[in-house]
Amino acid sequence: MTVLLALETSCDETAAAIVKDGRQLLSSCLVSQTPIHQKFGGVVPEVAARSHVQTINLMIDEALAQANLTYDRLDGIACTRGPGLIGTLLIGLSAAKALSWSWNLPLKTVDHLFAHVCANFIDTDLEPPFVALLVSGGHTQILHFRNFNDVEIIGETLDDAAGEAYDKVGRLLGLGYPGGPVIDKLALEGNPGAFKFPEGVVKGYDFSFSGLKTAVLRQVEKLKKSSQELPVEDLCASFQEAVSKVLVKKTLKAADELNLKTIVLAGGVAANRELRAKFEKESGLSVYFPSHHLCTDNAAMVAAAAFFHGENAKLNIGAYSRQPVRD
Ligand code: KG4
Ligand code: ZN
Repeated sequence: MTVLLALETSCDETAAAIVKDGRQLLSSCLVSQTPIHQKFGGVVPEVAARSHVQTINLMIDEALAQANLTYDRLDGIACTRGPGLIGTLLIGLSAAKALSWSWNLPLKTVDHLFAHVCANFIDTDLEPPFVALLVSGGHTQILHFRNFNDVEIIGETLDDAAGEAYDKVGRLLGLGYPGGPVIDKLALEGNPGAFKFPEGVVKGYDFSFSGLKTAVLRQVEKLKKSSQELPVEDLCASFQEAVSKVLVKKTLKAADELNLKTIVLAGGVAANRELRAKFEKESGLSVYFPSHHLCTDNAAMVAAAAFFHGENAKLNIGAYSRQPVRD
């Protein structure tokens, strides 16, 4: 039995969680900084880092209390090493190093994107191989997850990430930050066929969302000129239709060409209703997606990732803001 305490501070969520054997959630605690950053329309890195400093110890205490454990029952400390905001990553990494040293426990660091995918191991019997669609605020990737030591990025966005496109369109429509959850909700009331937005034509498994974002901008400008009230729900539904269609199309193409029957969704945008619904319609495939609270940033996924493939790290290890570049 392996019980890991994990920390996550790569962006604007301060999180701690305790997970047994990579799958059994014993506790998961989180404070979102969204209310702090909302007035700026996006995350302010310095403000985020300071907020993590104030909250991280509270989250660690809370995670232990919720799991009803004392530190001597832990087998290791895990944390996110990157990619993310360097100043915020360093808060979690420094806290993890301090705990590792003072409690004499191994330190395990993980990649944030790999961790998002590993959220799918919590409370499931999922096993590789599978195709993963990772759609977050900063990244959009299709991964061929052969096994825990062999994960290949086979497609990614050439410009904006899917979540970034949601956030930019949300800002454009005056819906605040983050745009994803609000657009998802408003789209329920709108007509997905009201406007035809481009999917972004890119070869293979890659994506492009910047053209789509510009198309929404042009449409909004046109509608504003005609001084009509903006059909916000229709714009949300049509935008969401274009994003979800291309994400599903390329992921299914990858599953088909690699002859894999399991698809795994991960990242904040994996919480999206339309995306989940479109994948669920695909018969003959097993589709996994994490519960809503495990789609967006959390520490449980970090613990799962560390259990299955955490690097045993030395105390002088650094953080990285970007993932190493693909050849
Ligand atoms: O994975 P995540 O918490 O953070 C990153 O690592 O980036 O993802 C946050 C992103 C934001 O862009 C947010 O707008 C988007 O996920 N998001 C959604 C939904 N919930 C969150 N996008 C579409 N539909 C949702 N329901
Ligand atoms: Zn994330």
